[in-house]
Amino acid sequence: MSSQKKIVIGLFGFGVVGEGIYKVLQKTPALQARIKKICIKDPSKKRDAPAELFTTDYNDLLEDEEINVIVELISNAKEAYTIVSTALIKNKSVVSANKKLIAAHLPRLIELQRKHNVSFLYEAAVCGSIPIIRNLEEYYDNDLLQSICGIVNGSTNYILTKIREENLDYQQALLQAQQRGFAEADPALDVEGKDAVNKLTILLAHAHGIITDPNEILHRGITQIQNTDAIIALEKNVQIKLIAQAKKLANNKIAAFVLPQFVTIESQLYNVRNEFNGVVIESSLSDKQFLYGKGAGRYPTSSAVLSDISALRYNYSYEYRKLNNPENRNELSTDFYLKIYVSFKAWSDIDLNDFDFTEEIYCQRGRQYLTGVIHYEKLKNADWLSDNNVSVIVCPDGIIENTDTVKLKSTSLQLPGVEVLV
Ligand code: HSE
Repeated sequence: MSSQKKIVIGLFGFGVVGEGIYKVLQKTPALQARIKKICIKDPSKKRDAPAELFTTDYNDLLEDEEINVIVELISNAKEAYTIVSTALIKNKSVVSANKKLIAAHLPRLIELQRKHNVSFLYEAAVCGSIPIIRNLEEYYDNDLLQSICGIVNGSTNYILTKIREENLDYQQALLQAQQRGFAEADPALDVEGKDAVNKLTILLAHAHGIITDPNEILHRGITQIQNTDAIIALEKNVQIKLIAQAKKLANNKIAAFVLPQFVTIESQLYNVRNEFNGVVIESSLSDKQFLYGKGAGRYPTSSAVLSDISALRYNYSYEYRKLNNPENRNELSTDFYLKIYVSFKAWSDIDLNDFDFTEEIYCQRGRQYLTGVIHYEKLKNADWLSDNNVSVIVCPDGIIENTDTVKLKSTSLQLPGVEVLV
């Protein structure tokens, strides 16, 4: 039996998750993990823990040789990078939930953990309580993985659910997501799809050995979705969900993006509500598998942090097998098409020439709508994509590898219930 090491923790941050993990560790003495010091920013805030635990000086944790694990749970990604990289250099293992930091600096952080022979674990950074990273690391360390399609941001899913089910307006729903501790300190990261693309970037490293800058991946959030889009979705019994997707194409390259999508009732993601996350993994042998759980909030996130701390007792570390094996490593594709629904105010808001096909064009309730097929690069570079008047939603099964197949199939999407005028 492998020996288990005692964990002495330096905790950075005592916010929603930091306080959560402090409380959880008090209830799990069998883990033999103790928090020795907690570094916070604002010493004047009243906190529900003994005052002697707190400090505002990083070095009280980073220079303390007894502390062998740093748990980093702050929101500022720049400061987090300094803390995490210094900790690794000082031969301390690190547990982090900071997806922005990880997505931005993964290559350097991998190098540091290797060089210093320590672990850097971050299960809580993607999909909160769902064990997706270890699943990809351990179970899908082969080339069978075909696709990952997931709701990876709890706040936007909460907002979309409240708009649909309780008729809340966007601002009210966002406020609730903030009050419940799901949203980022800067909620623009959630609603503009940046949090989701950071998480997709991390998934791509483990699922396909792809290291990329999140800004290279097409991503949009939910800010442009209009009430009229929500009404159409309701009438047609589809859900609008913010989806992070990575799909292996016939040439073995990976199509990846974060965009709102229409999700039909046949999809497991249709019933993923509120702050829950869900990921459908497809592999060539097992077909579809579905992971579901709370993606945000104090205790769900603490659960993943706790699991990482626990794994450090037996020196677990990620092996990045796909990244390390050129035969298993995939590349991102920029050469594929998407079937999208677009709603907009005026025809001058978009450029029809960007589309390879338009299928349905109609107008209703003072807005124009079309469904059509567009090349990924054209969409990514379209000025109109960032126009607040323009809402883009990917149609079901919206990834198209080759437009010849579209012509052959005669592709009217028959976007539910829409009156075709042209
Ligand atoms: N703001 C994030 C979310 C927190 O809503 O999913 C969990 O990563």
